[in-house]
Amino acid sequence: MPHHKEIRNDADLSVPAYLLLQGKVILLCASGGIAVFKAAGYARKLMEAGARVITVMTENARRFVSPLTFAALTGEKVHYDTFDDSDAHLIPHISLAREADLMLHLPATANILAKAANGIADDLVSTLYLAYSGPVIFCPAMNPMMYSHAATRDNIAVLRARGHEIVEADFGNTACGEKGQGRLACWEDIREAVIRTLTPQSLKGLKVLVTAGPTQEAIDPIRFISNRSSGKMGYAIAAEAARRGGEVTLVSGPCAIPAPSGTRLVNTISASDMAEAVSRELDEADIVIMSAAVADYTPVETSGQKMKKGADTLELILTKTPDILSGILERRTPEQLVVGFCAETGALEAKALEKLARKPVDLLVANDVSEPGAGFDVDTNRVLLVDRDHNLEKLPLLSKEEVAVRILNRVEELLS
Ligand code: PMT
Repeated sequence: MPHHKEIRNDADLSVPAYLLLQGKVILLCASGGIAVFKAAGYARKLMEAGARVITVMTENARRFVSPLTFAALTGEKVHYDTFDDSDAHLIPHISLAREADLMLHLPATANILAKAANGIADDLVSTLYLAYSGPVIFCPAMNPMMYSHAATRDNIAVLRARGHEIVEADFGNTACGEKGQGRLACWEDIREAVIRTLTPQSLKGLKVLVTAGPTQEAIDPIRFISNRSSGKMGYAIAAEAARRGGEVTLVSGPCAIPAPSGTRLVNTISASDMAEAVSRELDEADIVIMSAAVADYTPVETSGQKMKKGADTLELILTKTPDILSGILERRTPEQLVVGFCAETGALEAKALEKLARKPVDLLVANDVSEPGAGFDVDTNRVLLVDRDHNLEKLPLLSKEEVAVRILNRVEELLS
């Protein structure tokens, strides 16, 4: 039978991508290593995140990948000639340096690291480095022996001490047939470094405690009571707080997603574990955001052995778990800002106001988890923000990444 691809129309639930890099100009400086071919794909992804990408290539980079590839992918002229006189009144290294919000060396060879560390300017890429005063990221990629060589490590140390960001290479098989550290970092790490570098450090100096994910309440060694929380909402908040320079501790129930870079992950399983972890971290925190879906009840007894199948029905006796948020509200200092969540099915506004009366947080983030695209285990959410003065803000269906941005914007307003 012929195989037909099903064509789905998810238009009703589609959410415009959140353009984290909207309006930013990135000067992508490619030097000559095989990883240049990956840089071409990354350039495209940076554009998809909203950035304008202007590529500058060394002579050796052009041996690996044609400038035409970058020009076609970015829709921009690719620069490589210091003495380009096609636009007579502009000096390339000055005009490009003025335009950029970020200089991204992708990939950075041992040679460009050495030239930048020592201020050598003998082509357009190295000259631009000296002519540029904004933030600079180097993403090294090279043979593992070259990467671990004392000269390269010293050059990296010099560049780091100068305030530049280094996205260290990954371990694995390299194109030259060796195994070790030298592969260009993965897209996620480079993306995160770019976003963090371009994000105003508005939470710098503040400690942010975020809870996320479900809890698991054990029935016996192999069974538990839990819920559908994936952790996506809380992890997105933790990631955004870290991008803004916050010192983030993420207390998480069991989740299948990696901890956002720049956060400290504290793993917990049950509601009582989570309560203990939060209690340990609370006094240090300036901002507490409780997005975890904590079980309200837990089995009174947990069997040490696998429970055997027996009678047709089985009764489990459950007891209330500690209400972590209520505990926080009793112990908080007036300086601490507390954000609670509220997961409901229907009548969201009324239930949110009722919850705010019982749990007087500074900001309540309410979601109707019965709505398509909202709540548990999806990449999007539709939330209602209610602050301590009962100001309501209804947000449309957005990616959880953007919901996190909106929540933290409100948090910052409430702090000021
Ligand atoms: O993880 P995702 O798949 O991305 O899904 C996101 C989410 C739906 C889990 C999230 O948006 C959300 O709504 N989180 C709160 C879920 C919840 O438990 O809501 P609640 O209305 O039952 O609890 C209210 C508040 O009390 C919450 O801040 C909760 O963390 C807290 N709580 C609840 C019970 C308990 N024993 N201790 C608590 O601290």
